Amino acid sequence: MVRIAPSILSADLGRLAEDVRDAEAAGADWIHVDVMDGRFVPNITFGPAIVRAVRKATTLPIDVHLMVVEPERHLAAFAEAGADGLSVQVEATTHLQRTLHAIRELGKRAGAVLNPHTPEENLRYVLADLDLVLVMTVNPGFGGQAFLPATLPKIRRVRELIDQAKQSIDLEVDGGIAPDTAHAVVEAGARVLVAGHSVFDQPDRAAAIRALRAAAA
Ligand code: DX5
Ligand code: ZN
Repeated sequence: MVRIAPSILSADLGRLAEDVRDAEAAGADWIHVDVMDGRFVPNITFGPAIVRAVRKATTLPIDVHLMVVEPERHLAAFAEAGADGLSVQVEATTHLQRTLHAIRELGKRAGAVLNPHTPEENLRYVLADLDLVLVMTVNPGFGGQAFLPATLPKIRRVRELIDQAKQSIDLEVDGGIAPDTAHAVVEAGARVLVAGHSVFDQPDRAAAIRALRAAAA
């Protein structure tokens, strides 16, 4: 089963609550929130206040993607705001195991994110601390970028690592996921698809999510 996580980066922020409710009604499984600090990535987006607003608008799990340096400094604030999962970029935190452990201590699902150039080997010794791996299929920072096919072999390698771990870890992909790329990432082993442009920028979100599911099948 493949889950779809629309990213509010592509929502109309002037009507955020309506867009989130619209995505839920359209069949979204999770809501993805892209937090950017202007340092780890060039762009600046959302803080805990926006997660709190999303929390009020939906009962779906809120999947927070922290594209920030030293994410360990902000975990408690996002947990308190209502996140269900917190994912940190492995490039941005010096003591990854400690950070993942801290997320679980807050009662949240712990995720590790790999930039397109970051090898899956970074995960080998923290598998026991993970609930989710997110493989970036674009360089993080902006919505609507083109999918990088060179990430497909890495998705396969992460799938192998997860299967060997014999433990329940979600494998998510993020960036350029649309009906024309969904099949390849699912075939490689992804089971959660983040989708910004291909859901929120479409006039009919239900049709957009159906198209993603059909392509993934
Ligand atoms: C990229 C973000 C993504 C982004 C995906 O930095 O992490 O979640 O919103 O956008 P699309 O689906 O438009 O590539
Ligand atoms: Zn993201």
